[in-house]
Amino acid sequence: MILSPSLLSSDFGSLEQELKALENAGITWAHWDVMDGMFVPNITFGAPVIKALRKTSGLFFDVHLMICEPERYLADFADAGADLLAVHAEASTHLDRTLREIRRLGMKAGVALNPSTPVSALENVVDLLDQVMVMSVNPGFGGQSFIPQSLNKIRRISAMLREAGSEALIEVDGGIDPDRTPELVKAGASVLVSGSAFFNFPPYAERLRAFERAAASARAGQ
Ligand code: DX5
Ligand code: ZN
Repeated sequence: MILSPSLLSSDFGSLEQELKALENAGITWAHWDVMDGMFVPNITFGAPVIKALRKTSGLFFDVHLMICEPERYLADFADAGADLLAVHAEASTHLDRTLREIRRLGMKAGVALNPSTPVSALENVVDLLDQVMVMSVNPGFGGQSFIPQSLNKIRRISAMLREAGSEALIEVDGGIDPDRTPELVKAGASVLVSGSAFFNFPPYAERLRAFERAAASARAGQ
């Protein structure tokens, strides 16, 4: 299990220090929620902010684009130093082309699915995926409640990927805390995003351990 803390819940005034604190706590990924005020109601930050912080951090940058027509900005995020770029299936008309372009630019390619979007949206692009992001809340805000139906979706995506011989990671995003972790890991998730249930519970090293213990308990119970 990889924990990818969502910087949406971090202190925006101290992003450099927050990233350092994550690294010092043993975290390896950082989740960047890019919002454009169109695909989702909020506006957060874009490629220039990520690029500035890239210089200060060795973390794996897991970038979640909640923006319309993401294909217009792929090169900007590659230049900013994103390691993984996830676009929403609902936001990209030519998803096949978008995913190929993300890989061509040297990043891992991901697709995020809103809670209402069926698994079948992935069927014809399975070979182009390094990651699938299952949204377990409606995107746009931190601190929302986990939608239980997401578990079933993770199981079905896990089966679909296995059948296709794909090694794409399943990442789950929204409303996740240590209590929720065992069932997510059992269902097939390997990357968990956590915003409010991570940053509101310092120290970060101990919070990471709480998630890791919960994930280990799922494996022991299998
Ligand atoms: C929702 C974002 C998530 C979310 C995670 O639009 O994509 O990354 O903020 O935050 P919590 O864990 O607070 O739901
Ligand atoms: Zn996110």
